[in-house]
Amino acid sequence: MSKLLHIQSSPRGDRSASIEVATHFIETYQATNSSDTLETFDLWETSLPEFDGETINARYAVLQGTSHTPEQSAAWEVVVKIANHFKSADKILLSLPMWNFSIPYKLKHYIDLLAQPGLTFSFTPEEGYKGLVTGKPLAVIYARGGAYGSGSGAEGYDQQSVYIKQIFGFIGFTDIQEILVEPTLSPTKVETVAAAKLLAAKIASVF
Ligand SMILES: Cc1cc2nc3c(=O)[nH]c(=O)nc-3n(C[C@H](O)[C@H](O)[C@H](O)COP(=O)(O)O)c2cc1C
Repeated sequence: MSKLLHIQSSPRGDRSASIEVATHFIETYQATNSSDTLETFDLWETSLPEFDGETINARYAVLQGTSHTPEQSAAWEVVVKIANHFKSADKILLSLPMWNFSIPYKLKHYIDLLAQPGLTFSFTPEEGYKGLVTGKPLAVIYARGGAYGSGSGAEGYDQQSVYIKQIFGFIGFTDIQEILVEPTLSPTKVETVAAAKLLAAKIASVF
């Protein structure tokens, strides 16, 4: 029995294109994996802790191999909990809107908490950086008002998929499948979402 974790980062509920496609992905996935568990982690319904000075001191202590002060230990415990929750999933589905050519700030906040030495990546002078979250597939659903995919001529503006692939690759993911939902701010939105759902179902059926 596997656990599928859906990280949801649009606040738009029923009006969200990324959530609509993600819901279709999940329905298809569940039809073929009925004994698996699903957790939806809605970043707009979750109160994430601050990634503050004490947490950063704790992070540098890990990188420098020094011990934590009691304050740093308390701050680090919170981060460990978030990383362990993420790592408890066997498979990850991430759905996100494009905001200002990039990702929503709630998702960036989550990633800043998640990407930690000793938890999701390691560093040694001999080996450099190494991702620690390995052997898990990641499917990503990107919704965009405009079109930035291959052949659009606007590929260079896409700091959404480029960043997501880079940061999740950094923490260890090698199996990353992508579903573009674009352009959603266009009269062809219905067709756009329908095409993305088809691809989502195809990926979900063998995920
Ligand atoms: C704050 C904000 C910023 C946005 N920035 C962009 C952008 O830079 N490029 C773009 O193509 N669309 C942009 N959009 C439009 C969204 O990407 C589009 O509506 C998408 O469908 C949102 O995903 P959702 O429907 O899952 O919420 C923006 C929307 C909002 C609310």
